Amino acid sequence: MKYMGSKNRIAKHILPIMLKYRTPEMTWVEPFVGGANMIDKVEGNRIGADFNKYLIDFWNALKNGWTPPIHTTKEEYYAIKENKENDTKMTLWAGICCSYGGKWFGGWINDYKENRRLQNGRLPNHQTESRNGVMKQLPKIKDVDFVHCSYQDLEIPPSSLIYCDPPYEGTTAYKDGFNHTDFWQWCRDKASEGHIVFVSEYNAPKDFFCIKTVQTNTQLGNGCNTGNQHKLEKLFTPMAAIADKERGLF
Ligand SMILES: C[S@@+](CC[C@H](N)C(=O)[O-])C[C@H]1O[C@@H](n2cnc3c(N)ncnc32)[C@H](O)[C@@H]1O
Repeated sequence: MKYMGSKNRIAKHILPIMLKYRTPEMTWVEPFVGGANMIDKVEGNRIGADFNKYLIDFWNALKNGWTPPIHTTKEEYYAIKENKENDTKMTLWAGICCSYGGKWFGGWINDYKENRRLQNGRLPNHQTESRNGVMKQLPKIKDVDFVHCSYQDLEIPPSSLIYCDPPYEGTTAYKDGFNHTDFWQWCRDKASEGHIVFVSEYNAPKDFFCIKTVQTNTQLGNGCNTGNQHKLEKLFTPMAAIADKERGLF
């Protein structure tokens, strides 16, 4: 799914590192599952949670056989925007998958009826591309247990591998007052409880170890229309033993 902060493109750089530390009985836990663009590349027991109830309703509806509509009109889009509780899976579909840049109700995507310019010799149909994208993900996320809750309230099986992709500090794409200090403390606590913990972020407190850096183009920025920006995505862990291994210290 095209999603703000999607890890689809960097998964190939960071997933192999994390999977080295997963044993077969470990549950893969993503408390910030978003567009499921990392968890769809993982196998075995998986829990994907998110604070966004529309998103979790959407994934569960897909798992239960629902398919998104072929076409959502501009009128339908704005009617859904005005009445988000009527059909929560459709709210997610319109709010993300039929919106510019996957930005929450960032404006109805000009579709084939509106946009007559040819792209690669054909008329673009962005909604079809969104639909094809999530339908391609479906077989890979069928067994994921999707849960609607805040990360602090998530019940995590003992000795899990927890991959966190939280709202990034300093980006204005998420204006939900996310408390980063509490989040980093929660990561320390989970590591102390015996889980393996990894975090994607641009920066972390000094006691976290950066074990991988990947340069990316991102549209998250200062909220202005500044186009793509180069950013250094980093993978952190609070676990010194993993950091030592990744740095080749033993
Ligand atoms: C950067 S996105 C995750 C993107 C995802 N990894 C992907 O590749 O598509 C961050 C997610 O955190 C969720 N979120 C924000 N605050 C949260 C909280 N307190 N608890 C759980 N999820 C939260 C947002 O709804 C959003 O889906």
